[in-house]
Amino acid sequence: MPNLIIRPDWHLPESRVTQVSAYRNRRKFLRELGLAGGGLLAASGPLERDALAADAKKFYPAKRNIAFSPDLPLSKEKIFTTYNNFYEFSTDKEAVVDRVDKFVIAPWPVKIHGLCEKPLTLDAQELAAEFGLEERVYRFRCVEAWSAVVPWTGFELRKLLAKVQPKAEAKFVKFVTANRPDQMPGINRLRGYPWPYTEGLRIEEALHPLTMLVTGVYGKPLPKQNGAPIRLVVPWKYGYKSGKSLVEIELTDKQPKTLWETLSPEEYPFESNVDPAVPHARWSQATERVVDTGDRIRTLPLNGYAAQVGGLYKK
Ligand code: MTE
Repeated sequence: MPNLIIRPDWHLPESRVTQVSAYRNRRKFLRELGLAGGGLLAASGPLERDALAADAKKFYPAKRNIAFSPDLPLSKEKIFTTYNNFYEFSTDKEAVVDRVDKFVIAPWPVKIHGLCEKPLTLDAQELAAEFGLEERVYRFRCVEAWSAVVPWTGFELRKLLAKVQPKAEAKFVKFVTANRPDQMPGINRLRGYPWPYTEGLRIEEALHPLTMLVTGVYGKPLPKQNGAPIRLVVPWKYGYKSGKSLVEIELTDKQPKTLWETLSPEEYPFESNVDPAVPHARWSQATERVVDTGDRIRTLPLNGYAAQVGGLYKK
Protein backbone atom coordinates (compact mmCIF):
# COMPACT_ATOMS: atom_id res chain seq x y z
CA MET A 1 0.00 0.00 0.00
CA PRO A 2 1.53 3.30 -1.04
CA ASN A 3 2.20 6.07 1.38
CA LEU A 4 -0.74 8.47 1.52
CA ILE A 5 1.12 11.75 1.75
CA ILE A 6 -1.80 14.01 0.97
CA ARG A 7 -5.24 12.69 1.73
CA PRO A 8 -7.75 13.24 -1.06
CA ASP A 9 -10.79 15.44 -0.54
CA TRP A 10 -12.80 12.23 -0.55
CA HIS A 11 -11.43 11.57 2.89
CA LEU A 12 -13.24 14.65 4.17
CA PRO A 13 -16.83 14.44 5.28
CA GLU A 14 -19.05 15.82 2.53
CA SER A 15 -20.02 18.80 4.67
CA ARG A 16 -16.40 19.93 4.59
CA VAL A 17 -16.00 19.80 0.83
CA THR A 18 -15.79 23.39 -0.49
CA GLN A 19 -19.18 24.97 -0.92
CA VAL A 20 -19.83 26.13 -4.45
CA SER A 21 -20.73 29.68 -3.40
CA ALA A 22 -17.33 30.09 -1.72
CA TYR A 23 -15.27 28.99 -4.68
CA ARG A 24 -17.44 30.93 -7.14
CA ASN A 25 -16.71 34.12 -5.31
CA ARG A 26 -13.01 33.38 -5.38
CA ARG A 27 -13.08 32.56 -9.09
CA LYS A 28 -15.05 35.71 -9.86
CA PHE A 29 -12.38 37.67 -8.04
CA LEU A 30 -9.58 35.94 -9.98
CA ARG A 31 -11.37 36.54 -13.27
CA GLU A 32 -11.74 40.20 -12.52
CA LEU A 33 -7.99 40.28 -11.99
CA GLY A 34 -7.53 38.35 -15.24
CA LEU A 35 -5.83 35.50 -13.40
CA ALA A 36 -8.20 32.61 -13.86
CA GLY A 37 -7.03 30.04 -16.44
CA GLY A 38 -9.18 29.40 -19.49
CA GLY A 39 -10.68 26.11 -20.47
CA LEU A 40 -10.71 24.67 -23.94
CA LEU A 41 -8.69 27.23 -25.83
CA ALA A 42 -6.09 27.87 -23.15
CA ALA A 43 -3.84 25.66 -25.25
CA SER A 44 -0.07 25.45 -25.10
CA GLY A 45 0.76 26.51 -28.63
CA PRO A 46 -0.73 27.78 -31.90
CA LEU A 47 -0.73 24.34 -33.56
CA GLU A 48 -2.71 22.82 -30.75
CA ARG A 49 -5.08 25.77 -30.72
CA ASP A 50 -5.67 25.59 -34.48
CA ALA A 51 -6.30 21.85 -34.41
CA LEU A 52 -8.80 22.20 -31.61
CA ALA A 53 -10.59 25.11 -33.18
CA ALA A 54 -10.98 23.24 -36.48
CA ASP A 55 -12.36 20.26 -34.61
CA ALA A 56 -14.79 22.42 -32.69
CA LYS A 57 -16.14 23.99 -35.86
CA LYS A 58 -16.57 20.72 -37.69
CA PHE A 59 -18.14 18.47 -35.06
CA TYR A 60 -19.84 20.63 -32.43
CA PRO A 61 -22.52 20.95 -31.32
CA ALA A 62 -23.55 17.36 -32.04
CA LYS A 63 -27.20 16.34 -32.32
CA ARG A 64 -28.82 15.33 -29.05
CA ASN A 65 -29.97 11.70 -28.81
CA ILE A 66 -33.35 12.14 -27.15
CA ALA A 67 -33.71 8.43 -26.37
CA PHE A 68 -30.75 8.72 -23.97
CA SER A 69 -31.49 12.22 -22.63
CA PRO A 70 -34.07 12.50 -19.85
CA ASP A 71 -35.77 15.84 -19.52
CA LEU A 72 -33.77 17.17 -16.58
CA PRO A 73 -32.51 20.71 -15.95
CA LEU A 74 -28.82 20.88 -16.92
CA SER A 75 -26.21 21.91 -14.40
CA LYS A 76 -24.66 25.26 -15.16
CA GLU A 77 -21.73 24.96 -17.56
CA LYS A 78 -19.62 27.49 -15.70
CA ILE A 79 -19.87 25.47 -12.53
CA PHE A 80 -19.42 21.99 -13.99
CA THR A 81 -16.34 23.13 -15.90
CA THR A 82 -14.63 24.85 -12.96
CA TYR A 83 -15.36 22.45 -10.09
CA ASN A 84 -13.18 19.48 -10.96
CA ASN A 85 -11.66 16.37 -9.54
CA PHE A 86 -8.44 15.88 -11.49
CA TYR A 87 -5.70 15.00 -9.04
CA GLU A 88 -2.95 15.03 -11.66
CA PHE A 89 -3.35 18.83 -11.54
CA SER A 90 -4.56 19.55 -8.02
CA THR A 91 -6.57 18.11 -5.16
CA ASP A 92 -8.26 21.52 -4.90
CA LYS A 93 -11.33 21.40 -7.13
CA GLU A 94 -11.34 25.11 -7.80
CA ALA A 95 -7.62 25.19 -8.68
CA VAL A 96 -7.59 22.54 -11.44
CA VAL A 97 -8.83 24.92 -14.14
CA ASP A 98 -5.94 27.29 -13.40
CA ARG A 99 -3.27 24.58 -13.74
CA VAL A 100 -4.08 22.98 -17.10
CA ASP A 101 -2.48 25.49 -19.46
CA LYS A 102 0.71 23.48 -20.06
CA PHE A 103 -1.20 20.27 -20.75
CA VAL A 104 -0.80 19.46 -24.46
CA ILE A 105 -3.81 17.61 -25.89
CA ALA A 106 -3.01 17.47 -29.61
CA PRO A 107 -1.68 15.27 -31.06
CA TRP A 108 -3.10 12.56 -28.77
CA PRO A 109 -2.64 8.92 -29.77
CA VAL A 110 -4.93 6.46 -28.00
CA LYS A 111 -3.84 2.83 -28.04
CA ILE A 112 -6.52 0.10 -27.99
CA HIS A 113 -4.90 -3.28 -27.50
CA GLY A 114 -4.70 -6.49 -25.47
CA LEU A 115 -7.00 -9.45 -26.05
CA CYS A 116 -8.45 -8.37 -29.38
CA GLU A 117 -8.06 -9.37 -33.02
CA LYS A 118 -7.33 -5.91 -34.43
CA PRO A 119 -5.41 -3.67 -32.03
CA LEU A 120 -5.35 -0.10 -33.12
CA THR A 121 -3.88 3.32 -32.35
CA LEU A 122 -6.01 6.31 -33.23
CA ASP A 123 -5.50 10.00 -32.60
CA ALA A 124 -8.24 11.53 -30.44
CA GLN A 125 -8.99 13.93 -33.27
CA GLU A 126 -9.81 11.06 -35.62
CA LEU A 127 -12.46 9.66 -33.31
CA ALA A 128 -15.27 12.02 -34.26
CA ALA A 129 -14.93 11.28 -37.97
CA GLU A 130 -14.51 7.56 -37.34
CA PHE A 131 -17.39 6.95 -34.91
CA GLY A 132 -19.64 10.01 -35.17
CA LEU A 133 -20.65 12.15 -32.21
CA GLU A 134 -23.94 12.62 -30.41
CA GLU A 135 -25.04 14.48 -27.31
CA ARG A 136 -26.57 12.71 -24.31
CA VAL A 137 -27.79 14.19 -21.05
CA TYR A 138 -26.61 12.00 -18.16
CA ARG A 139 -26.79 12.25 -14.40
CA PHE A 140 -23.32 12.40 -12.86
CA ARG A 141 -22.78 11.36 -9.22
CA CYS A 142 -19.48 11.79 -7.40
CA VAL A 143 -18.62 9.54 -4.45
CA GLU A 144 -18.28 12.76 -2.42
CA ALA A 145 -22.10 13.03 -2.59
CA TRP A 146 -22.42 15.90 -5.06
CA SER A 147 -24.13 15.51 -8.40
CA ALA A 148 -24.78 17.19 -11.71
CA VAL A 149 -26.79 16.76 -14.91
CA VAL A 150 -24.42 16.99 -17.85
CA PRO A 151 -24.81 17.14 -21.65
CA TRP A 152 -21.87 15.00 -22.83
CA THR A 153 -20.80 14.66 -26.46
CA GLY A 154 -19.24 11.41 -27.58
CA PHE A 155 -20.02 7.91 -28.77
CA GLU A 156 -20.67 4.48 -27.32
CA LEU A 157 -17.50 2.68 -26.22
CA ARG A 158 -18.91 -0.52 -27.73
CA LYS A 159 -18.47 0.98 -31.23
CA LEU A 160 -14.73 1.22 -30.67
CA LEU A 161 -14.61 -2.23 -29.10
CA ALA A 162 -16.44 -3.71 -32.09
CA LYS A 163 -13.73 -2.27 -34.33
CA VAL A 164 -10.88 -4.00 -32.46
CA GLN A 165 -12.86 -7.26 -32.07
CA PRO A 166 -12.38 -8.49 -28.48
CA LYS A 167 -11.34 -12.12 -28.09
CA ALA A 168 -13.56 -14.48 -26.08
CA GLU A 169 -11.00 -14.44 -23.22
CA ALA A 170 -11.38 -10.65 -22.78
CA LYS A 171 -13.34 -10.30 -19.54
CA PHE A 172 -12.33 -6.78 -18.47
CA VAL A 173 -11.37 -3.46 -19.98
CA LYS A 174 -8.58 -1.42 -18.43
CA PHE A 175 -8.40 2.35 -18.93
CA VAL A 176 -5.08 4.13 -18.52
CA THR A 177 -4.88 7.91 -18.38
CA ALA A 178 -2.10 10.41 -19.09
CA ASN A 179 0.91 10.42 -16.76
CA ARG A 180 2.93 13.53 -17.57
CA PRO A 181 4.52 15.02 -14.47
CA ASP A 182 6.05 17.84 -16.55
CA GLN A 183 2.60 19.00 -17.66
CA MET A 184 0.49 17.86 -14.70
CA PRO A 185 1.75 19.56 -11.56
CA GLY A 186 -0.31 17.49 -9.14
CA ILE A 187 1.50 14.22 -9.91
CA ASN A 188 4.74 15.04 -8.12
CA ARG A 189 2.83 16.40 -5.16
CA LEU A 190 1.18 13.00 -4.69
CA ARG A 191 4.29 10.88 -5.06
CA GLY A 192 2.85 8.00 -3.08
CA TYR A 193 0.00 7.50 -5.54
CA PRO A 194 0.28 4.61 -7.99
CA TRP A 195 0.17 6.74 -11.16
CA PRO A 196 -1.05 6.58 -13.85
CA TYR A 197 -4.70 6.95 -12.87
CA THR A 198 -6.11 3.62 -13.98
CA GLU A 199 -9.69 2.39 -14.01
CA GLY A 200 -11.55 -0.66 -15.23
CA LEU A 201 -14.88 -2.21 -16.14
CA ARG A 202 -16.17 -5.71 -16.71
CA ILE A 203 -16.53 -6.35 -20.43
CA GLU A 204 -20.36 -6.44 -20.13
CA GLU A 205 -20.29 -3.00 -18.51
CA ALA A 206 -17.96 -1.66 -21.18
CA LEU A 207 -20.24 -3.00 -23.91
CA HIS A 208 -23.39 -1.48 -22.39
CA PRO A 209 -24.92 1.21 -24.64
CA LEU A 210 -24.87 3.77 -21.79
CA THR A 211 -21.07 3.60 -21.50
CA MET A 212 -19.59 6.46 -23.48
CA LEU A 213 -16.27 7.72 -24.66
CA VAL A 214 -16.66 11.46 -24.35
CA THR A 215 -14.86 14.17 -26.31
CA GLY A 216 -17.13 17.12 -25.54
CA VAL A 217 -19.49 18.74 -23.10
CA TYR A 218 -22.05 21.56 -23.31
CA GLY A 219 -21.90 21.44 -27.11
CA LYS A 220 -18.12 22.06 -27.31
CA PRO A 221 -14.93 19.98 -27.15
CA LEU A 222 -14.04 18.96 -23.60
CA PRO A 223 -12.11 21.54 -21.62
CA LYS A 224 -8.81 20.18 -20.33
CA GLN A 225 -9.98 20.23 -16.73
CA ASN A 226 -12.90 17.92 -17.61
CA GLY A 227 -10.64 15.33 -19.24
CA ALA A 228 -9.73 16.47 -22.75
CA PRO A 229 -9.32 15.21 -25.32
CA ILE A 230 -11.10 11.97 -24.42
CA ARG A 231 -12.54 10.47 -21.25
CA LEU A 232 -14.84 7.73 -20.13
CA VAL A 233 -18.36 8.31 -18.74
CA VAL A 234 -20.22 5.50 -16.96
CA PRO A 235 -23.32 7.20 -15.55
CA TRP A 236 -24.49 4.51 -13.10
CA LYS A 237 -21.13 4.36 -11.30
CA TYR A 238 -19.42 6.86 -9.01
CA GLY A 239 -17.57 9.54 -10.97
CA TYR A 240 -14.09 8.20 -10.20
CA LYS A 241 -14.75 5.26 -12.55
CA SER A 242 -14.87 7.80 -15.42
CA GLY A 243 -11.16 8.21 -16.16
CA LYS A 244 -10.06 11.45 -17.81
CA SER A 245 -7.56 12.06 -20.61
CA LEU A 246 -7.32 8.41 -21.69
CA VAL A 247 -4.20 7.19 -23.47
CA GLU A 248 -4.76 3.45 -23.45
CA ILE A 249 -7.67 1.00 -23.49
CA GLU A 250 -6.69 -2.60 -22.90
CA LEU A 251 -8.76 -5.76 -23.17
CA THR A 252 -7.66 -8.22 -20.53
CA ASP A 253 -8.64 -11.45 -18.79
CA LYS A 254 -7.66 -10.10 -15.34
CA GLN A 255 -9.55 -7.60 -13.24
CA PRO A 256 -7.42 -4.44 -13.47
CA LYS A 257 -6.09 -2.86 -10.28
CA THR A 258 -7.43 0.69 -10.20
CA LEU A 259 -5.66 3.65 -8.61
CA TRP A 260 -8.30 4.21 -5.93
CA GLU A 261 -8.77 0.53 -5.21
CA THR A 262 -5.00 0.20 -4.70
CA LEU A 263 -5.04 3.10 -2.24
CA SER A 264 -8.14 2.09 -0.29
CA PRO A 265 -9.97 -1.08 -1.44
CA GLU A 266 -12.78 -0.93 1.14
CA GLU A 267 -13.69 2.64 0.24
CA TYR A 268 -13.27 2.44 -3.53
CA PRO A 269 -13.99 -1.11 -4.68
CA PHE A 270 -13.74 -2.13 -8.33
CA GLU A 271 -17.49 -2.22 -9.02
CA SER A 272 -18.48 1.09 -7.39
CA ASN A 273 -22.07 1.31 -8.58
CA VAL A 274 -24.04 4.25 -7.16
CA ASP A 275 -25.99 2.78 -4.25
CA PRO A 276 -27.82 4.95 -1.71
CA ALA A 277 -28.17 1.94 0.61
CA VAL A 278 -24.42 1.41 0.98
CA PRO A 279 -22.70 4.24 2.86
CA HIS A 280 -19.12 5.20 2.16
CA ALA A 281 -16.88 4.33 5.11
CA ARG A 282 -17.11 7.92 6.37
CA TRP A 283 -20.35 9.38 5.04
CA SER A 284 -23.84 8.47 3.88
CA GLN A 285 -24.62 7.98 0.20
CA ALA A 286 -28.39 8.30 0.71
CA THR A 287 -28.58 11.87 -0.61
CA GLU A 288 -26.57 14.18 -2.85
CA ARG A 289 -25.99 17.92 -3.17
CA VAL A 290 -26.79 19.26 -6.63
CA VAL A 291 -23.58 21.02 -7.54
CA ASP A 292 -24.95 24.28 -8.92
CA THR A 293 -28.16 24.79 -6.93
CA GLY A 294 -27.04 23.37 -3.59
CA ASP A 295 -30.34 21.44 -3.37
CA ARG A 296 -30.17 18.17 -1.49
CA ILE A 297 -31.95 15.33 -3.26
CA ARG A 298 -32.30 11.60 -2.75
CA THR A 299 -29.76 9.43 -4.53
CA LEU A 300 -31.29 6.84 -6.83
CA PRO A 301 -30.12 3.22 -7.04
CA LEU A 302 -27.67 2.88 -9.94
CA ASN A 303 -27.96 6.68 -10.20
CA GLY A 304 -31.38 6.41 -11.85
CA TYR A 305 -30.27 3.86 -14.47
CA ALA A 306 -31.58 0.70 -12.77
CA ALA A 307 -34.05 -0.03 -15.57
CA GLN A 308 -31.23 0.00 -18.12
CA VAL A 309 -28.37 -1.67 -16.26
CA GLY A 310 -29.98 -3.56 -13.34
CA GLY A 311 -29.82 -6.77 -15.38
CA LEU A 312 -26.02 -6.68 -15.30
CA TYR A 313 -26.10 -7.20 -11.53
CA LYS A 314 -28.83 -9.81 -11.06
CA LYS A 315 -27.42 -12.52 -8.78
N1 MTE B 1 -9.53 10.94 -14.00
C1 MTE B 1 -8.23 11.23 -13.76
N2 MTE B 1 -7.32 10.94 -14.68
N3 MTE B 1 -7.85 11.83 -12.59
C2 MTE B 1 -8.76 12.14 -11.62
O1 MTE B 1 -8.37 12.66 -10.56
N4 MTE B 1 -11.11 12.07 -10.91
C3 MTE B 1 -12.34 11.30 -11.00
C4 MTE B 1 -12.86 11.25 -12.44
N5 MTE B 1 -11.79 10.96 -13.36
C5 MTE B 1 -10.13 11.82 -11.84
C6 MTE B 1 -10.47 11.23 -13.07
C7 MTE B 1 -13.40 11.81 -10.13
S1 MTE B 1 -13.20 11.53 -8.48
C8 MTE B 1 -14.51 12.43 -10.59
S2 MTE B 1 -15.82 12.79 -9.58
C9 MTE B 1 -14.61 12.84 -11.98
O2 MTE B 1 -13.44 12.51 -12.76
C10 MTE B 1 -14.82 14.33 -12.05
O3 MTE B 1 -15.04 14.75 -13.36
P1 MTE B 1 -15.35 16.29 -13.65
O4 MTE B 1 -14.20 17.09 -13.10
O5 MTE B 1 -15.49 16.38 -15.12
O6 MTE B 1 -16.62 16.61 -12.91
